[in-house]
Amino acid sequence: MCGIVGIVGKEPVAPLLVDALKRLEYRGYDSAGVATVDHGHMDRRRAEGKLINLEKRLKEEPLAGTIGIGHTRWATHGVPNEANAHPHFSGDVAIVHNGIIENFWELREELIADGYQFSSQTDTEVVAHLVSREIRNGAAPVEAAHNALKRLRGAFALAIMFRGDDNLIIGARNGPPLAVGHGDGEMYLGSDAIALAPFTDTITYLEDGDWAVVRRGEFAIYDMDGNPVHRAPQKSVGTAFLVDKGNHRHFMEKEIHEQPEVIAHTLSNYIDFSTMTIKPLKSKIDFSAINRLAISACGTAYYAGLISKYWFERFARLPVDIDIASEFRYREMPMAKGDAALFVSQSGETADTLASLRYCKNQGMTIGAIVNVRGSTIAREADAVFPTLAGPEIGVASTKAFTCQLSVLAALTLRAAEKRKTLSPEQVRVHVQALIEVPRIASQVLHLEDQITRVARELANVKHVLYLGRDTNFPLAMEGALKLKEISYIHAEGYAAGELKHGPIALIDENMPVIVIAPHDHIFEKTVSNMQEVAARGGKIILITDEKGARLSTVETMETIVLPDVPEFVAPIIYALPVQLLAYHTAVFMGTDVDQPRNLAKSVTVE
Ligand code: G6P
Repeated sequence: MCGIVGIVGKEPVAPLLVDALKRLEYRGYDSAGVATVDHGHMDRRRAEGKLINLEKRLKEEPLAGTIGIGHTRWATHGVPNEANAHPHFSGDVAIVHNGIIENFWELREELIADGYQFSSQTDTEVVAHLVSREIRNGAAPVEAAHNALKRLRGAFALAIMFRGDDNLIIGARNGPPLAVGHGDGEMYLGSDAIALAPFTDTITYLEDGDWAVVRRGEFAIYDMDGNPVHRAPQKSVGTAFLVDKGNHRHFMEKEIHEQPEVIAHTLSNYIDFSTMTIKPLKSKIDFSAINRLAISACGTAYYAGLISKYWFERFARLPVDIDIASEFRYREMPMAKGDAALFVSQSGETADTLASLRYCKNQGMTIGAIVNVRGSTIAREADAVFPTLAGPEIGVASTKAFTCQLSVLAALTLRAAEKRKTLSPEQVRVHVQALIEVPRIASQVLHLEDQITRVARELANVKHVLYLGRDTNFPLAMEGALKLKEISYIHAEGYAAGELKHGPIALIDENMPVIVIAPHDHIFEKTVSNMQEVAARGGKIILITDEKGARLSTVETMETIVLPDVPEFVAPIIYALPVQLLAYHTAVFMGTDVDQPRNLAKSVTVE
C-alpha cells in the first residue's frame, strides 16, 4: 500500500504535496517522492526512507510548479531505494501508484520487446511506459491514459501527469481508494480524505473501474468504457490538523494513554446511560432473526473479532464463524442468505477484509462493519456501520482502535443477547454497568506503567517470548505476541494455555519468558495447572492477573502484575492495556522505530 496525492493548484505545490504525504505516511514509509510540471518542464525529487529525507532533498533542490503528484511507498515489487521510489517517468509521463499490477511481467516483456528500458524493479513503471507508448503512437494524453488503463489487471490507484500540460492529472481506481477533492479553482486527488483535509472538505470517491480527468476548477469521471459516470460529492470528516504527539515520545504511547477517554466516547455511542441499556441500533442486522454470524478481519482487528466470538456464543447463544480475511475470502464458506457478517477494520480499507465483505454481499448476507474511518470503503459498502470513535490512530501497531473495537463488539453482543432473549434485562444491565466502568479501570491500569516498564527491561534481553491464555485471553495472548513482534522484533507466539502440552512446551527453558494472562475467572485453575507445567521446566513466568489470582496462583513467578478486579466479561478490554504497554516499553528499550516499525504499514490495501 502506498499513499498518493495530486494537486492542480494555484500556488507552488511541492510543499503542499509533502504536507499531504505526511498524512499518508501511515500507508507506507519506505521511500517518498514528488514531481511537478512548471511552465511545461517536468521534474521530480525522490528519497529513500521516511518523508523527512524527501523534505531535506526539496530544501536543497526545490521544485517549482503549481501542478504536481506525490507518493509515499510501501514496497511490493523492488527494494526500497531511490530508483524504485515514485513518481516514475517515461517520456512525457509521470506516474504514482498504489497497489499491484498483476500482469506487469507480461506487459514488461512486451514493452522491452518494443524497445522500452526499465530503470526500476517496480510493477508501476510498466504503466508509465504504456501511457508513454500511447502518446508516442499519436494519442492525446487523456486517450493515452485510458488506453493504457484498459490493459491493466490487478489493484491500483493511480495519478498520472504529463510534461507540457500544467492543467491535467488523470486519476484511476481499481481496488485501493482514491478521492477527488474539490477546491476553489484548484482540484486534488488523494488516497483518503485526511490527506486532502487541509485543502478541502468536499470530496468525491472514485469507485472501482472509475478514472477521472482532473483539471483546475473541473473534473469528470468515466467508466472503463469511457462513459461519463456520476459519483456524488460528500463532506469529509477528516481533520485539517496533523495529529501531534503532545507530550508523548511516540504516537503509540499517546494512543495507549488515550484509551480511557476514547473507550468512554465510543461506549457513549452505544449505551443509554439513563436506562443502562444498549441503545436500539438503527441497523439492518436483526440479531433475533439470524442463525449464524460470520466475522472476518486482519491483524489486531481479527483478534478483536475472535474475542467477540466467545462473547456472542456465550451470552447471545449465536454461533460465530470467524476467519482471517485473507483465508476467508478464498475459503468458499457456505452461507445462508439472510444471515449476517461483521467486518472489523480500523482503516476500513484493508484489501482482504474488503474482498471478504464483497464475497458475503454476493452471497446475500447482511453486512455490518466496525470501522474507525467513517468515509472508508468498508464503511461505504456495508449495510450497517458501527463506528469506533477512537480518533485517528497513527502508530502502526494498533492499540486504542483495538479496545474500541472490543467495546463496540461487547455492546453488539449485549444487544444480540437482549434481542435473542438469552440474557434477562437485569443481566444485560449488569453487563452494561461493567462496560461503563471500563474507562475508569483502564486509567487505573495505566498507573502500573512503572512496574510494566521494569518487566519490559528484562524482555528486551530475550530472543523469544511465549504468551499464554485461555478463553478470551487466548486471542489476547496472540494479540500480545503480535504487538511484541511487530514493534520490538522479538519473536513471540500466543498460545491457548491448554494447548501448551501439545508442542510448545518443548521450547520452555530458563531463557524463555512465558507471559500468562490469567484473571481469576471460571477457568483460572486450569491456567494455574499450565503455569505449573512451565515452572516445572524452569520457564520464567510473568503473570498478569488480579488480586485473587495473585493470591491463589501458588506458582513462583518472575513478576506478577496485579490489575484491579473486573467482571470477566470486560476483562479482555482491560487486560489489553498491560499487554500493549509491555510491547511498547520493550520496543523503546530495544531502540526500534516504535511508530513506524520496519516492513509494516498501517493500512494494507494489497492482498
Ligand atoms: C495492518 C496493521 C495492523 C492492523 C491490520 C488490519 O497489518 O499494521 O495494525 O491490525 O493491518 O488493519 P485494519 O485497518 O483493517 O484494522
